[in-house]
Amino acid sequence: MHQDYFSQEVNRRGTLSVKWNPQAIKSIAANEKAEPFWVADMDFLAPPEVVETAIKTAKGGVYGYPYVEQKEQLFCSWAERRHSWIINRKDVVICPGMLTSIALLTEMLTKEGDGIIVPLPAYQPFLRIVRNLGRTLIGWPLAYEEKSHRFSLDLDAFEELCKQAKLLIFCSPHNPSGMVFSEEELKRIAIIAKRNQVAIISDEIHSDLSFKEHHPLLPIATEMGCTAVTCMAPSKTFNIAGEHYSVSIFSEDKLRLAFKRRLEQLFLDGNSFFSTTIALAAYESGEPWLKELLVYLQENIAFMEKFFRERLPSLAFIRPDASFITFIDCSAIIALVEQDALAFPELYDEKKSPNGGLLSRFFGLRAETALNDGSWFGGDAYRGFVRFNYGTRKEKIAAALERMEKAVKFLKDTYTR
Ligand SMILES: Cc1ncc(COP(=O)(O)O)c(C=O)c1O
Repeated sequence: MHQDYFSQEVNRRGTLSVKWNPQAIKSIAANEKAEPFWVADMDFLAPPEVVETAIKTAKGGVYGYPYVEQKEQLFCSWAERRHSWIINRKDVVICPGMLTSIALLTEMLTKEGDGIIVPLPAYQPFLRIVRNLGRTLIGWPLAYEEKSHRFSLDLDAFEELCKQAKLLIFCSPHNPSGMVFSEEELKRIAIIAKRNQVAIISDEIHSDLSFKEHHPLLPIATEMGCTAVTCMAPSKTFNIAGEHYSVSIFSEDKLRLAFKRRLEQLFLDGNSFFSTTIALAAYESGEPWLKELLVYLQENIAFMEKFFRERLPSLAFIRPDASFITFIDCSAIIALVEQDALAFPELYDEKKSPNGGLLSRFFGLRAETALNDGSWFGGDAYRGFVRFNYGTRKEKIAAALERMEKAVKFLKDTYTR
């Protein structure tokens, strides 16, 4: 039943969706008609029980301040069911968006000028948080094996960087590579961090969407004596990201109380009526839908992997172990794209798509497909990649890949004679 649910057409054009907004699309893809596969929300309807609750609540017609006694407990039950993680409800703080929490925690755990390690490529707002708060960004590039197209952690480099750092902003599972980390890897990160007095904020927003077992960092870090916070949310899991709701989990009372105090000082300690309603309905009743979603997403991955292997071998699909986004390595075509940009400077004019890069403009212009440019995730080192959001119907993905295949053929036909 749910498989049909995911394959139905959902028309998001003309809604408030930023992903589907023509001007926003143009700003990265140089073409407002490009079909969006960028911003990290999915095109699927939220779980039917969540939609029903939202409709019923909306029909109630009064949207006052919410109060829910058991919201921390509901999350604890979820974490235990989903990740076999037993949490005491007193260690949980419910917050609005996860970025708000990460920015506040960063402010609390570091001082101006302090070094903060961020693995690269990175979900770009992490870099902005560091910059906005006047801290010093210490990029930690993931190792990349060009033949196998696999990213991995360079822990020796991490140990070296820790000497100048006070904090690591970690992302597990990792956006944009889709990596899921083993218990052993997380243990080693925590040991190194502890040895160097580096605290860790672990963004685990994509954890419920992991295809392998996800290990929350906090219990591991606590065992190693390392200061850490894990942040989770129902937003990506149930496709309700517009209704900001997230959860921070602490093992140190002092840090938790300081965080709560900071939220109160900024009047950020209350979530909105709708976000609360929807998040709680999702945790209570969304699990059967989530299980079906994970099947659908893995089918999409299998389809894409086969397509790239058989029909688009000059682009390398980096197989993700979680969620609905992944990197595609396009470095083999970038020299040809550069020639296209030289031949058509007005199309590729940066002023017309100021938030894009060379490859996002190329796919926007030549394949009518809007993808995040790799450079968004950490600058020129990643300009050979694009991020593709496959949280949508198979038919739509197939059509986009066919357009990308034609665009690459056009490049080869035009510039390699
Ligand atoms: C790794 C990661 N963290 C945080 C966010 C955003 O979280 P929020 O909307 O709750 O601030 C995203 C959204 O794409 C994300 O991918």
